[in-house]
Amino acid sequence: MVSSSQPGRRTRAPCTLGAGADSGQCLAQEISGGWVGSQGPATRFHRVQMILGPTSGDLDDDAVAAAYPWPAEGPWVRAMMVTTLDGAAAGPDGTSDSISSSVDKAVFDAVRRFADAVVVGAGTIRAEGYGAMRAKPADVARRTAAGQAAAPVVVVVSGSLDLPWDSELFTASTERPIVVAGAGATAAARAAAAAHCDLVVAPDERVGPGFVVDTLVARGLRRIVCEGGPSLLERFVADGRLDEADITVSPAFAGLTERPGSARDVVRHFELAHVIHAEGFLMNRYLAPGSGR
Ligand SMILES: NC(=O)c1ccc[n+]([C@@H]2O[C@H](COP(=O)([O-])OP(=O)(O)OC[C@H]3O[C@@H](n4cnc5c(N)ncnc54)[C@H](OP(=O)(O)O)[C@@H]3O)[C@@H](O)[C@H]2O)c1
Repeated sequence: MVSSSQPGRRTRAPCTLGAGADSGQCLAQEISGGWVGSQGPATRFHRVQMILGPTSGDLDDDAVAAAYPWPAEGPWVRAMMVTTLDGAAAGPDGTSDSISSSVDKAVFDAVRRFADAVVVGAGTIRAEGYGAMRAKPADVARRTAAGQAAAPVVVVVSGSLDLPWDSELFTASTERPIVVAGAGATAAARAAAAAHCDLVVAPDERVGPGFVVDTLVARGLRRIVCEGGPSLLERFVADGRLDEADITVSPAFAGLTERPGSARDVVRHFELAHVIHAEGFLMNRYLAPGSGR
């Protein structure tokens, strides 16, 4: 499993899939910090069921992970987001943590566990405070045996390069983070950033998702999770660069601060592949039409 060790859905305390589930029908949720799966004894158990999809019924830890397969070859981009019933992406704390849950976080972890790269917008990094990106030892062994890096690489997309360079994300992640900057980033900001990450500057002021994907694939990073936020995800959808959308519906209203509406001319439809239920949360997996998976 993969960990980032601070509060927030993306920095949420990771959990061990497969450890502590006595009946094979529960997810073991571990609450404290550290890398995923290493936070001490499991403290809560939740029944997790696939209610629509290729299987049905209770899912053990490995079955949850298996419900989010990566294709054998080629680039694949999946988004991972949680939304409330009224479409909010964050709760009153200004992060996704207050609209998430332990089971949602467990599925979130399964989705990113064997990714090559985790792509995040700078606004989400600033709001949610990502911790270090690491993998638990058993997963390191499985990853390296499969030819992957020991942990996913965090990839931050930013125009300003105003990022928390002293955070654990940049100081303690297993793999050196990549930052993809817009062409408008100043020389001073680029120089400062280069001390903390592999800096890649896009040809345009707004970084194109295609540029991000091509950059990662050229480095052998083809299993890509986009963890938002909404602004970055919108660009991936608009440019047709999203293959899979893993969207949790939280059974809660958080209230919206802006008038809902659409900024796009075309509504893009995805196809429902499965629904996992736990504790009133629905973890929905959607695939882009024609993705063939
Ligand atoms: N519900 C969920 O699953 C979820 C997921 C993620 C985030 N969130 C929440 O969403 C909120 C943040 O939303 P957001 O839309 O502002 O997040 P975001 O997309 O992560 O951040 C926007 C910022 O990212 C950079 N950016 C994004 N796309 C870019 C592009 N194409 N080119 C260059 N820079 C780009 C820019 O950074 P610079 O300002 O540095 O130029 C931009 O200001 C927070 O409250 C967070 O907690 C929720």
